[in-house]
Amino acid sequence: MQYTDHAVLNASEQLVVAAAAAAAPSVFNTQPWSFAFADGGLEVRADPDDASMPTASAGRDVRLSCGAAVFNARVALARLGHGSRVSVLPDAGEPLLVARVTLSGDAPDPALDALYRWVDTRRTNRYPFRPEGVPAGVLALLHDAARLEGATLRLLDGEPEYQRMLTTIRRAVWTEDESVRDDREARLSPGAGGPAIPVGNLGPVPRRELPNDPPVRDMAEGLDVAGRGSAAFEPHPDLAVLETADDDPGSWVTAGQALQRLLLEATGHGVAASFANQPLEDAELRPVVSGGAAHHGSPQMVLRLGYPTARPPVPPRRPLSEVFPGLRG
Ligand SMILES: Cc1cc2nc3c(=O)[nH]c(=O)nc-3n(C[C@H](O)[C@H](O)[C@H](O)COP(=O)(O)O)c2cc1C
Repeated sequence: MQYTDHAVLNASEQLVVAAAAAAAPSVFNTQPWSFAFADGGLEVRADPDDASMPTASAGRDVRLSCGAAVFNARVALARLGHGSRVSVLPDAGEPLLVARVTLSGDAPDPALDALYRWVDTRRTNRYPFRPEGVPAGVLALLHDAARLEGATLRLLDGEPEYQRMLTTIRRAVWTEDESVRDDREARLSPGAGGPAIPVGNLGPVPRRELPNDPPVRDMAEGLDVAGRGSAAFEPHPDLAVLETADDDPGSWVTAGQALQRLLLEATGHGVAASFANQPLEDAELRPVVSGGAAHHGSPQMVLRLGYPTARPPVPPRRPLSEVFPGLRG
């Protein structure tokens, strides 16, 4: 059924869509995207500075972040009453054009519309979680959310695999390259625009007491950031790996959309997430993350899931006029 023949979005609708896209999570809060409306659709471009991070995963992480923004745009379009269609990497001659989201003319997907209310509520939560695990039924919903977007959420529910992951994360922390550490330090310094991740979003310094070395990532590991307390963390959070069948730029955009779908779903169920991607940022350790497991995918994100004990503040974002230049005119 043709639901609407609106060919283009008006200015206030464009603003709603761009604001939702800009609320997506991004690697080190780099927000490596820009948005433009053309031919009645939204174009999402990767930031040309995407190679500025010294990690081996920089290009992948930028596409993943853009994928999350694309998913939020679809959700906002659904809220505005529009079905949408996504074309990933639509132009081989323009590799920075990550996706084009166009109005399909169909009725909006009610499942996407229902996720809109969580777009501004979702946060990366690096505070301790409550000790109890996430119920199997809720984890199954998160698994379904990833699957609907073409990815797999692999739960580390077997003890040997769980312990192997903890060891791999620890190895990544110990072997971090000096250039990566320096880059983290620069991004967390007060600088002109303020730290990319402020103290309130870093969460407390985790008390590391073996055997309960918590798999929460301290984004300021080894750095002295004023004003942080320390805390003991939940002993055994749920850990999961988001995987895609392939491992190319299109798959990274898929992973980003899947990530955001499951994060919004999680938020709606009161479940928070943080990430422990250190081993994925290291070319040698990344194969270890999924090596030996009964699966057929490439690891894209390592998630820690649980019920929060604290709510981080709204994280900083670049001005919308910067990421959506069309707003100026
Ligand atoms: C590709 C990608 C990788 C990320 N890696 C980590 C990570 O390893 N550890 C972590 O705590 N947060 C990680 N994050 C979360 C970002 O730091 C976070 O999205 C950003 O600071 C903005 O905060 P928000 O998610 O609360 O909006 C990652 C996000 C993305 C999209």
